[in-house]
This record gives sequence, structure tokens and C-alpha cells, in this order.
Amino acid sequence: MGNKIAGARDLWQSRTGLILAMAGSAIGLGNFLRFPVQAAENGGGAFMVPYIIAFVVVGIPLMWCEWAMGRYGGARGHGTAPAVFALIWNSPVARFLGVIGLWVPFVVAIYYVYIESWTLGYSIHFLLGTSPKLAAGADSAKEYIEPFSVFLGTYIGASGGGNIFTPSLTALVALGITLALNFYILYRGISRGIEVFAKFALPALFIMALVLLVRVVTIKTDNGSFIEGLNFLWNPDFSALKSPGVWVAAAGQIFFTLSLGFGAMITYASYIKPEQDVTLTGLTSATLNETAEVILGGSIAIPAAVAFFGVAGAVSIAKSGAFNLGFVSLPAIFASMPAGQFLGFLWFFLLFFAGLTSSVAITQPVVTFFQDEFGIKRSSSVIITMGIMLVSVLMVIFINQTLDEWDFWAGTIGIVIFGLVEVLIFMWVFGGGNAWAELNRDGIIRVPRVFYYIMRYITPLFLLVIIGWWGVELLPGELQKTSWTIWVSRAYLVLLFAVLTVLVFLANRRKSAGHGS
Ligand code: TRP
Ligand code: TRP
Repeated sequence: MGNKIAGARDLWQSRTGLILAMAGSAIGLGNFLRFPVQAAENGGGAFMVPYIIAFVVVGIPLMWCEWAMGRYGGARGHGTAPAVFALIWNSPVARFLGVIGLWVPFVVAIYYVYIESWTLGYSIHFLLGTSPKLAAGADSAKEYIEPFSVFLGTYIGASGGGNIFTPSLTALVALGITLALNFYILYRGISRGIEVFAKFALPALFIMALVLLVRVVTIKTDNGSFIEGLNFLWNPDFSALKSPGVWVAAAGQIFFTLSLGFGAMITYASYIKPEQDVTLTGLTSATLNETAEVILGGSIAIPAAVAFFGVAGAVSIAKSGAFNLGFVSLPAIFASMPAGQFLGFLWFFLLFFAGLTSSVAITQPVVTFFQDEFGIKRSSSVIITMGIMLVSVLMVIFINQTLDEWDFWAGTIGIVIFGLVEVLIFMWVFGGGNAWAELNRDGIIRVPRVFYYIMRYITPLFLLVIIGWWGVELLPGELQKTSWTIWVSRAYLVLLFAVLTVLVFLANRRKSAGHGS
């Protein structure tokens, strides 16, 4: 039975296609917006110390765990966390923990597509020339930014300041197009949809980023230059390393940028040919992501802001968050240059491509779940999944604070908890010896033995410390929030979790009743 299903799986057709699809999932809005803001706020160049340590101690180990577990499950006809965990550990506890690996990616997918759609909406505005114009005679950072800040407020409908947003028509149309494109790529499937798109989108993305980089390198104003921007971003403030918050931020960024702790890489890896390498291929796609993050992500947004507004201006911009940097400050900078309209378009279209190759990856687990565990056709699975997404995204569009609340529970805490679950199930329940053999099976390179010890001891300890720190530092503040919008958004999260739990256990009953093939 397992073999029959495995034979029917739609597999990645080439190793290049696999690497580009995986790198496409990893290279996203996080690389271009979230990374530079995190680095600027957490010690500049010194941030690279905890960042690189987190990359080695949790990033690479978890990446290998997810790839190896995914390939293992896929060869047996299962590509989602609840089912793969149950193959390793046949217990309701394993299935229940696996629900987190469906819930986290789906919750994040719902708000991620909305942010992604803003990048499309903005690129359309720039293309059509309906983007905001610079205020005449603006000569301070604040005056430059003002029209763009007003524009963002109107676009997402937050300017009223109330609990209910009133988004612009463009925001809704752009979201519709974004959902339709995600639907189309997922509907065509792994090899004919995602793989084909990634082979075209990733090279296009690198070219767009290089064009923008060349333009940013040559910015020179009375306030500063690109070099001063690099100096600012990379100037190490080693005293920052004494603050645990900086370490947590570095680990959080590693999770987010490598798409780890979502369960999504388990699903992608379940479509790897059963005898294909995961050790070197995994490392290659992680390296592509890090290049895009540190070189491209680190050299565009923040250095441009420093060159244009000076160090003090850039600091206040970074403090106001990733969205302000990406949707307010950078378009203002581009708009004031020759060919600014085109540069603005290029910037948002770059972000849109980066977002699209990521959003299909975060949505795929639930689609795969319906296919593998209920035997539903791909087309119907995509329709059901995107249907639930379409209804759920209304919460994010209209109810203030939903996006941040969901990002906190699923995108910040959920991923670290799930990362810990994954490494424990793989390295301890499956067993160190089995896990090591499965990871290295058919490998082009052998993983150095130190990683065995890192994955078994250091990764789980590191994650436990982070979870403990969160419990003490962030949870009390979070729990003090009490507005009704917060409660509605939390209730929806609980509802989604309950529905997924019921489905996971129904799927299991159905299989034991003999409908498994
Ligand atoms: N890595 C993506 C980025 O940098 C975002 C992301 C987080 C993601 N988790 C994911 C993408 C899971 C695909 C699957 O923006
Ligand atoms: N909300 C955070 C900020 O604005 C960072 C963030 C969370 C983010 N999810 C994201 C940034 C997705 C880009 C894309 O700073």
C-alpha cells in the first residue's frame, strides 16, 4: 500500500529544481525586510556573532532534521508532520504534536499572503504612476516620508485608528490576484507548478536585486553614502551580545529565514526522490538563502536609508519596523531619484516574487495533508485549503492587531516549540543511530560527526533556553493585552487548531478502518 502511494507522488524532477524550490521558499520578505531591521536593532555587525552561531547550532541541524524526516515520510506515502511523526512514533501524542506542524504554517500563510499582496499592489501603483509623490520642498526625513506613510495607512485602511480596518480597493484587488496566483501554482502541483515557477522566479529575483543593489551603491547625498550605510549596519557593538534578547532575535531570524519550525520543509522534502541526497542539497539551498540574506538583504534597504537620511534617520526608521522600512522609507528614497517610478516598481516586484515562492511553500502542508491522509485529489485539496484561507484572511484584513497577534503565537513562539518537538522526535524517539543513518543515506557528503552531538544535545538545549526566556520576558506582556480584537483573533487560532486536531484524528480512524489505499 505504502509503495503504491509513494509511486504516485508528484516528485521534484531535477536536483536543480529541488534546490531552487527550496531556496525559493527560504528567500522571502524575511531576507529583504526582516533581516536588515533585526541586524540594525540588535548590535549591527555584532549581530552576526549570535546569528552565525544560531545558524550552525539550530539552523543547519533543524534543516537536516526536516529534510531527512520529509524524505523518510515521502518514501512511505506521507508528507506532513502528524503522519511522519506517527511513522516514527506510533502514538496519539505524536499525532497531536504533529498538528502544530499544520497549524503553524497555515496560520502564517494566511497573514503572509496578505503582506505579499501589498507588494503586488504597490508594484502596480508604481507601474501605473499612481504611487505617492514627494512633498514639494521636503528637506527632513520626516517630510520626505510623510506622503508614503499616509499612503500605507490609506492602502490597508488603518488611518482611522479604529478596531476595524477599511482597506482600499487596490488592496482587495491585489489580494485577489495574489490568492489566484498562489492557487494556480499549487493547483498545477509540485513539479509542474512550484518547480517550474521557482526555476524562473529565482534567477529573475537575483537579477532584480542586483539592479537595485547597483543603484543603491551609487547613492550619495549630503547626509551620507552607501559606504557609510555599510559602516553603520556592520559596525559591531559587542556590548549587545550581553543581552539575551539579541540572541533570541538572532535565533528567531534564523528560523524565519530558513523556513524552519513550520513543518513546511518536511512537506517539500517528502517530494524528494527516495534515493536522492539530502545532506549536500540541503546545505546548498540554505547557503543560497544566506547569500541572498546577508549580501543582498544587508546591502539594499538599510544602507540606502543611511545614504539618504543619515545615520540618525536610519536608526529611527529601523526602530519603526520592517514594514515601515519596506513600504514607507524605501519607496520614498526611490521616488526621489531619476527613474524612481521604475525603481519603486522593481523593489516591490522583487519582494512580490520573493513572497510568492514562499507563500506556496507555507500553504502546501495543508494541501498535502488532505491528499495523503484523506486520499483527496490534488485539485480538490487545493480548493478546500484556499477556500479556508480566503475566509480566514478576512480576519487579518479587517480586524486590527490580528496580524501581529498571529505572528506572535504562530510565527514567533509556535515555531520554536515545534522546532524542539521535531529535533526530539528525530534524534531521541527515532534514535540517534537511526536518525544519523537516515540523514546520511545516499548522501553526496557525509555530515561531520560533531553534528551528531550538536543535533542530539546542543540544539534541544538552545531551544529550551529560548522558550524559557520567552516565557519569562514576552509572555507576561502579551497576556496583558485585553482588547476584544485580541480575543477574537486568539479565539480564531484556537478554532483552527481544534479543526486540524479533529481532522488528524479522523484521518487516522479512516486509515485503521481500511480506507488507506
Ligand atoms: N523564509 C521566508 C522568508 O524569509 C518565510 C517563511 C517562514 C516561510 N516560514 C516559512 C516560507 C515556511 C515557506 C515555508 O520570508
Ligand atoms: N512584524 C515584524 C515587523 O514589522 C516583522 C515581521 C513579521 C515580518 N512577519 C513578517 C516582516 C513578514 C516581513 C514579512 O518588524
